[in-house]
Amino acid sequence: MRKMIDLSTEYLGLRLKNPLVASSSPLTANLQQVEQLQNAGASAIVLPSLFEESLQHEQKQLERFVHSQALGNYEADSFHPVPDNYKSELDNYLEHLEKLKSVLDIPVIASMNGISDTGWLDYSTQLMQAGADALELNVYYVAADAQQSGVEVEDRYLSLLNSLRQKINIPVAMKLSSQFSSVSNMVAKLQAAGANGVVLFNRFYQPDIDLETLQIKPHLDLSSPMESLLRIRWIALIRGRVDLSLAATGGFHDVDSIIKALLAGADAVYLCSVLLNKGPGYCAELLQQLEHWLTEHEYESVKQMQGSVSQFCAIDPAAYEHSNYLDVIKSYPSNKK
Ligand SMILES: Cc1cc2nc3c(=O)[nH]c(=O)nc-3n(C[C@H](O)[C@H](O)[C@H](O)COP(=O)(O)O)c2cc1C
Repeated sequence: MRKMIDLSTEYLGLRLKNPLVASSSPLTANLQQVEQLQNAGASAIVLPSLFEESLQHEQKQLERFVHSQALGNYEADSFHPVPDNYKSELDNYLEHLEKLKSVLDIPVIASMNGISDTGWLDYSTQLMQAGADALELNVYYVAADAQQSGVEVEDRYLSLLNSLRQKINIPVAMKLSSQFSSVSNMVAKLQAAGANGVVLFNRFYQPDIDLETLQIKPHLDLSSPMESLLRIRWIALIRGRVDLSLAATGGFHDVDSIIKALLAGADAVYLCSVLLNKGPGYCAELLQQLEHWLTEHEYESVKQMQGSVSQFCAIDPAAYEHSNYLDVIKSYPSNKK
């Protein structure tokens, strides 16, 4: 009889039935697609982010509206400046979250995106109260100020996390970019400041220049599979050196890259572009392939393989660092056209 493989993993203190998590994207904003993701075996979903700038913009609009209405109606005591059926972006988000919590069996991770340590972080309490199993903070920050040091940039992240920790008691994951002088050190600092996990790495969308108009145009490309290698390397370098959950995001399109991330030490692998391209049902195919690979290679569980090729455990730890560099460039054939 074929042995059952245990695909379960632990992520942010949550027991997930397998490591495949549907990453934050328009897919997870849609109830029907989220149900399809659950049916296809996704072990958790991350909601699209609530963005600091849109929350603040909406708040300002509302204040302006209330102020102008109040000026025109100051004598009417019973006047309600905001229509009863008005729903803010936050209201809609909370409604979606509550709905998902009532229909899904898998954990739902809420997400916030911002950079300033101000009032918008208060909304995290409402996300927790609406049933979010964890919160992901996506700090999308381009450090363009020449006067700002790397330490100041890092302090921003830490200060945001400190504020969050004072407001909520659900697990917090920090979604980071790869652009730190020392990624491992930053992750260790985040752990010390109370992060339960990190999600590596955020993709920066690069603006492009239109050569006809010379305008800067926004540009969104889905990821390419090559991007997974950067994530795999850093997860391998970090695993075993810090004690917090590690999720890989960026370029995971096939089962091979998912297996590599797990071997490197990921507790969870996030999927986004591949699901946008192939549909939520593709998750089931990837899970089947993962199970097949584990069986073929005589593993009994995902836990058994996790981190076994991290730098901490690798036969050749230096291969994840600089020493490999010279060999790699020398391996390029000099006669290649
Ligand atoms: C259309 C689109 C919308 C996204 N929205 C969010 C978001 O709201 N918050 C967030 O943290 N990441 C967001 N992401 C990033 C993804 O969650 C994921 O981290 C990234 O695409 C890398 O994974 P992938 O290679 O599987 O696509 C978005 C990505 C796409 C393509």
